[in-house]
Amino acid sequence: MIRCDNGLFTLHTKHTTYQMKAGAHGVLLHTYYGPRVEGCDLSYRIRYVDRGFSPVPEEAGRDRTFSLDVLPQEYSACGMGDFRLPALDLELPNGSRGADLRYKSFRVEEGKYALEGLPAFRGGEGETLVVVLEDAAAGLDVELYYGVLEDYDIITRAVKLFNRGGQAVKIRQAASLCLDFQRGDLDLITFDGKHVLERSPSRGPLLPGVRSAGSVRGSSSHQHNPFVILCEHSAGEDHGLCYAACLLYSGNFQAAAERSQFENIRLTLGIHPWHFCWTLAPGEGFTTPEAALCCSKDGLAPLSHRLHRAIRERLIRDPWAGQPRPVLLNNWEATMFDFDADRLASIAKSAAPMGIGLFVMDDGWFGERSSDLAGLGDWTVNEEKLPGGLEALVPRIQSQGMKFGLWIEPEMVNEDSGLYRAHPDWVLQIPGRGKVRSRHQLALDFSRQEVRDHVYGALKTVLSSADISYVKWDVNRSLAAVWSAALPAERQGEAYHRYVLGVYGMLERMRRDFPHMLIEGCSGGGGRFDAGMLYYTPQIWCSDNTDAIDRLRIQYGTSFCYPVCTMGAHVSAVPNAQTGRSVSMETRGVAAMHGTFGYEMDPSRITPEEREVIRRQVAFFKEHQALILQGDYYRLSDPFQNGPFTAWEQVSPDKREALVSVVSGQIQGGPPLWNLRLKGLDPDLRYQVNGGGSYPGGALMEAGWPLPLPWGDYQSWQFYLSAL
Ligand code: GLA
Repeated sequence: MIRCDNGLFTLHTKHTTYQMKAGAHGVLLHTYYGPRVEGCDLSYRIRYVDRGFSPVPEEAGRDRTFSLDVLPQEYSACGMGDFRLPALDLELPNGSRGADLRYKSFRVEEGKYALEGLPAFRGGEGETLVVVLEDAAAGLDVELYYGVLEDYDIITRAVKLFNRGGQAVKIRQAASLCLDFQRGDLDLITFDGKHVLERSPSRGPLLPGVRSAGSVRGSSSHQHNPFVILCEHSAGEDHGLCYAACLLYSGNFQAAAERSQFENIRLTLGIHPWHFCWTLAPGEGFTTPEAALCCSKDGLAPLSHRLHRAIRERLIRDPWAGQPRPVLLNNWEATMFDFDADRLASIAKSAAPMGIGLFVMDDGWFGERSSDLAGLGDWTVNEEKLPGGLEALVPRIQSQGMKFGLWIEPEMVNEDSGLYRAHPDWVLQIPGRGKVRSRHQLALDFSRQEVRDHVYGALKTVLSSADISYVKWDVNRSLAAVWSAALPAERQGEAYHRYVLGVYGMLERMRRDFPHMLIEGCSGGGGRFDAGMLYYTPQIWCSDNTDAIDRLRIQYGTSFCYPVCTMGAHVSAVPNAQTGRSVSMETRGVAAMHGTFGYEMDPSRITPEEREVIRRQVAFFKEHQALILQGDYYRLSDPFQNGPFTAWEQVSPDKREALVSVVSGQIQGGPPLWNLRLKGLDPDLRYQVNGGGSYPGGALMEAGWPLPLPWGDYQSWQFYLSAL
């Protein structure tokens, strides 16, 4: 997997090759990343040409063809003649900016590296390549870590910086990856949106200059996602060369792609440089988050399959990797803050007979929390609503045959709370400036150990007071006016990252203390839906928008990187609380089976017919949940095209089973007669469709399956295929 030969470093996965070379003057050049090629030093592709206004480093003497501004770099720096996107930018005590990196050494370590305090893919039997660069003037070693997930076609990267000199160095920017392409004709796809409409793909050709997407909100955000794709202009689901880059990080990030003057492309991905400045004292180290790269020459579908498998099997941790997830019912949309123990028990009582196995009590159970004006921070049960606390409530729910789960928002505080009154200095806030509130709440300074310890202590008491199977960890605002009372002025640029490390640290602690508890991530829906969180929370509430038709788009966009088993998706009441739209219970169920399935309603208030539909849905989901959550996922149509239907498919790894889901759009007179071409089947097997007739896989894929004619808006169908 890893070959090191005289300064030439080659990484192979099953279908891809990645290569770099320590070239003249110790500059580490990127020679290739793409479909697998064998036995070759690919540096022959690099052109050395004299270009006007492209400077050369001192060692190159009169050789005007050796310019960092032109050559493909493995880890770019700024200030020393490369004017393209930097991966590394340092500030030295003399005020100078930039970095100058030269190859120093390499080593190969057994097993894939892990990163202390940060999420990372697990490598199994893999190896780690570490290429060490140095910036002599700064006294800094820059260690480039490469992990190879061979079977998954994934290459992971992280960077560790060590101050080996005698002076403090400020890291102004340290990206997790830099990737130079010796071509300029690629599209960039980013995943963008807003609260209640996350991760819509935006695709376009790279034009000269920089296109970037990122977040300065303190979390990965609803607005952009730390995941991007670069692909050939003609690439589609099943054809064309595609590259994916994903950052395992839940804070401020920047993904930037530049098409340079010579029609080459550079991609950088890492912590956002805005308001980032990390002081590295002599002897100290800094580790960037991990980034993962994936490449497919056969389009976007294989790219997603590889990422999905790697996330399912090498990122999500036990006991949830590959395991069934509970069908849950959450009371939020049914009750909001207005509930008591009897109301919750009556909801549970009506949910249990339909097969729903987990009851989740959402926001409003603690402190003086009767609206979003008060109570956050006070993690003790409100005994007016829930007399006897969880000790009394949980057995009541369990007596219905359901497990019990709880909503928490540990990172936040209301000013109207005991916690804030006792510790007003524990929030992130700039002295002398006004408070910046959002949803009437302020963010606690999670970079501080004592703040985390206090909140964790209170939560641990609650979580230990009863048999709690599940926690929904929410965070409901973006960070603003960020200033930490615990950091000196010159270290304020560390606050955002220390906050994220604090969140990760607390999640890890919770995982350790409650190893069998399922933690679902949430941030006003999908405002912190990233691979970093998935290391701690194997599923994330995909969006506060539970409208089945909007969800088709949100889940479609999310699917490019993240597998179905990570997407929290529920059936909610109609008219929908976000859109006012009403669609049938059947269609809401089909849409929610594009994720970890559940309900967000009061089932005691629906008709007997609807209850029967739910009973069938739950049974169907439970029967096919391995296929739905762990199967290979195919996008069969693009819901952004406003076509007559949206369709997707899951296929079992042995190709003996498949589930095709279809939702029609707004009805029009004379609806089209459509044959839906399926994917991923075995052409030589015969598949029985919904227990009826059987057809060859080849026919279903090439000739297609005739879709029923819709009657009315937003109809839905599921076709279960099993090989004979
Ligand atoms: C966020 C979540 C919702 C719900 C509310 C509770 O918006 O996304 O699902 O938990 O908070 O306040």
